[in-house]
Amino acid sequence: MLIFKTQEDLKSHLQTLISNHKTIGFVPTMGALHDGHLSLIQKSMSENDATVMSIFINPTQFNNSADLNNYPRTLESDVDKMKRISEDIIVFAPSVENIYQGNTISQSFDYDGLEFEMEGKHRPGHFNGVGTIVKRLFEIVQPNNAYFGEKDFQQLQIVKKMVEKSQMNVTVIGQPIFREPSGLAMSSRNERLSAEDRVIAAFIYQTLQEARIQFGTKNATEVTKWVENEFHNNVHFKLEYFEIADESTLKSITEKEPNKKYRAFIAVFMNEIRLIDTISLN
Ligand code: PAJ
Repeated sequence: MLIFKTQEDLKSHLQTLISNHKTIGFVPTMGALHDGHLSLIQKSMSENDATVMSIFINPTQFNNSADLNNYPRTLESDVDKMKRISEDIIVFAPSVENIYQGNTISQSFDYDGLEFEMEGKHRPGHFNGVGTIVKRLFEIVQPNNAYFGEKDFQQLQIVKKMVEKSQMNVTVIGQPIFREPSGLAMSSRNERLSAEDRVIAAFIYQTLQEARIQFGTKNATEVTKWVENEFHNNVHFKLEYFEIADESTLKSITEKEPNKKYRAFIAVFMNEIRLIDTISLN
């Protein structure tokens, strides 16, 4: 299994693949891998000659230093998980210094307003950090295809927008959310929940599924109020936001229009741990 620690070493390896006209699939991650990440890897392996997975905890996308410090760093076990899938996966695990060269700051991006909704409101600077690292990684890896989870649906739309605006030659592919048997969306942050909280956290997806059913007959405001009330009445959670939004603009809606696709988005705290989830509504 090849593990590259610097962009220079990775680039020189990839150069041979590119000059042999091999297609490259890319899965960027921050490590602490779970089956959701692995599903992206498997999709990439089935569609490309070579797959690169990056493991890089990107400091510029964390608006909260405690969240950055507490983020699990588990490179060894991540590599073991990769090996169990395939020895052919190319792992890129650079240092902050190698990526940012002493200048650990974000570039500013204009994502046509996508950045002002939901996560953008609650995590200032987050999407500039994401755009900065994803663009830099795309420049290093030069993938044909890059795979992102719908778990972070706003991030997926923002990366697509960044690629379109920067005219990069990368196809960005979204993949469905991988869930625990209870329905809880898999997340590296779930590791920080107690076993008991992990069971209770299934309430988030149960509520989203119920919201989806209600959206068939009720309007967005009624469904939103119902969800807010459900969380208000549940001592285990602190709701940050619940929104029903247009999938392409991510703007929240009050009235349904024909031929539009809608999604519900939620961010909720369980103790100090912030969990997000989303569900397609039609
Ligand atoms: P990270 O949270 O490690 O997630 C890496 C990729 O895995 C993202 O595309 C995310 O949407 C996807 N993912 C996470 N949980 C998933 C699940 N349960 N099912 C399917 N896919 C899932 O997202 C990031 O890292 C970073 O912001 C990154 C894009 C790497 C830039 O630093």
